[in-house]
Amino acid sequence: MKTKIAFAVVSVLALTTAVRAAEIAPKADATKVTVDSEGKKHEWMVKGGEREKALELKPDLKHGRDVFEVCSACHMPEGWGRSDGTFPELAGQHRTVLVKQLTDIREGNRDNPTMYPFALTSEIGGEQSVADVTAYIAALPMNPDNGKGPGTDLAHGKKLFEDNCVRCHGQNGEGNEEKYYPRIQGQHYEYLLRQYKWIKEGKRRNANPDMIAQIKNFSDKDTVDVLDYVSRLSPPKDKLGPHGWKNPDFE
Ligand code: HEC
Ligand code: HEC
Repeated sequence: MKTKIAFAVVSVLALTTAVRAAEIAPKADATKVTVDSEGKKHEWMVKGGEREKALELKPDLKHGRDVFEVCSACHMPEGWGRSDGTFPELAGQHRTVLVKQLTDIREGNRDNPTMYPFALTSEIGGEQSVADVTAYIAALPMNPDNGKGPGTDLAHGKKLFEDNCVRCHGQNGEGNEEKYYPRIQGQHYEYLLRQYKWIKEGKRRNANPDMIAQIKNFSDKDTVDVLDYVSRLSPPKDKLGPHGWKNPDFE
């Protein structure tokens, strides 16, 4: 009985998020090109394809839960990932971001050899499955105990964040659903660090070129300080789960 109630709450939340995402998604800037470490050009926002289709579909939360079973092996049943950053937190991420990253990985625009075989159409299904699983994940409550940085120079990190990141990721790291800017608050420090370096080096081929330009002169200390600060930005209370929460859908 308890399980059923919990699931119903998740469903209602997720549907609202999903409908909103479908209405606003097409507004993102789709014209930008990024250059990878080998000098090859890549579109930041690949036009057409699964991303656009998935965002137009009406999500089926129950099926989203079933698809998430595969994902939960690494991202955990709560979608909270691991605090050592091997697996990112997915819970509560904007649905547009989840759809973009998942379809970029499926279409080979972002390398993720660990996850790739599990994310294929032959494993989890096509656009409808992408629509369903991302709606389910976006509605999961977030981890209140994400992995944090070393805490060495948070004042410097704050200054760098305000001068260089707020315009896209928001004052509190909340991102922007409409523009596909990820929520980076509440994310594990080690994961933030890895992605940031890969974005800077062009290894994460699907990154936004404006961000690459913004951070190109950051030293290693700047990088640590700013992400240390980010890892301490807390998501809004209504998005956080209780400490040690277990996803009742997987009990
Ligand atoms: C075998 C382990 C594994 C499985 C199974 C897996 N993932 Fe992942 N996933 C990862 C790893 C590792 C990363 C981070 C890769 C990196 O560091 O670039 C990741 C990253 C992601 C990201 C990008 C997050 C971000 O913040 O940019 C999304 C979205 C994602 N996974 C969704 C899924 C979904 C949906 C499923 C199920 C269909 C799934 N994953 C299954 C290992 C896995
Ligand atoms: C011009 C807008 C812009 C600016 C400025 C910007 N970012 Fe980003 N950032 C993005 C976008 C867009 C993505 C997602 C890229 C993609 O689609 O793969 C991203 C991704 C990230 C990620 C990876 C998140 C994940 O879940 O995988 C991190 C970490 C990050 N940004 C940190 C920062 C920090 C720290 C700063 C400031 C020093 C910054 N960004 C400045 C737009 C920006």
